[in-house]
Amino acid sequence: MHVIIVYASVEGQTRKIARNVAGAVQSLEHDVTIFDSADIEDADLGLADAVIVAAPVHIGAYPAAVTHWVTENATALNALPAAFVSVSLSAASTFEAEKRELAQLTEEALARTGWKPKAIHYAAGALRYTKYDYFKRLLMRYISAKEGGDTDTSQDHEYTDWDALAAFAREFLGQMKSKK
Ligand SMILES: Cc1cc2nc3c(=O)[nH]c(=O)nc-3n(C[C@H](O)[C@H](O)[C@H](O)COP(=O)(O)O)c2cc1C
Repeated sequence: MHVIIVYASVEGQTRKIARNVAGAVQSLEHDVTIFDSADIEDADLGLADAVIVAAPVHIGAYPAAVTHWVTENATALNALPAAFVSVSLSAASTFEAEKRELAQLTEEALARTGWKPKAIHYAAGALRYTKYDYFKRLLMRYISAKEGGDTDTSQDHEYTDWDALAAFAREFLGQMKSKK
């Protein structure tokens, strides 16, 4: 089975997540090809048995590169086993209202593209305080404090549950049958 992974990443965590999913796919002895937002137009869904799209939430929205590509390819995606991995801080929140908001913004973003993923996984992302510029660090510290999250800006904080991510990939692909 050939799995295509398409992702966009602003700060690098979704890239790490996409590579991790690719590792899980390969451990099941499937072939995998990864495309990021720079080469997203090269992704040929005609060659895919399954697709996994991963994208992070930034200021309440998913990156335009991914939403445009998904919109252009919605018909093909709907015809394939195709899953969405959403990456955000809200997924790590202890507040249920935050998670409901995340689910709603995701539902609305997907509805605008016309794609109905067969499965969605909400992965918690990371706070990269040491990589942010001054203003982004202040903004993210403020948002994190509001959520009861980490405010120590002298280090980065990673919230991704790697076991849950791999389990999601295994379960999703376990439901597929190879075309080959
Ligand atoms: C400027 C900025 C805005 C963000 N806005 C949101 C947001 O609106 N909701 C949310 O849940 N997480 C938000 N996040 C958290 C990101 O989703 C999280 O850091 C994720 O790991 C980023 O993925 P990336 O490294 O692939 O870009 C934001 C992060 C940054 C830096």
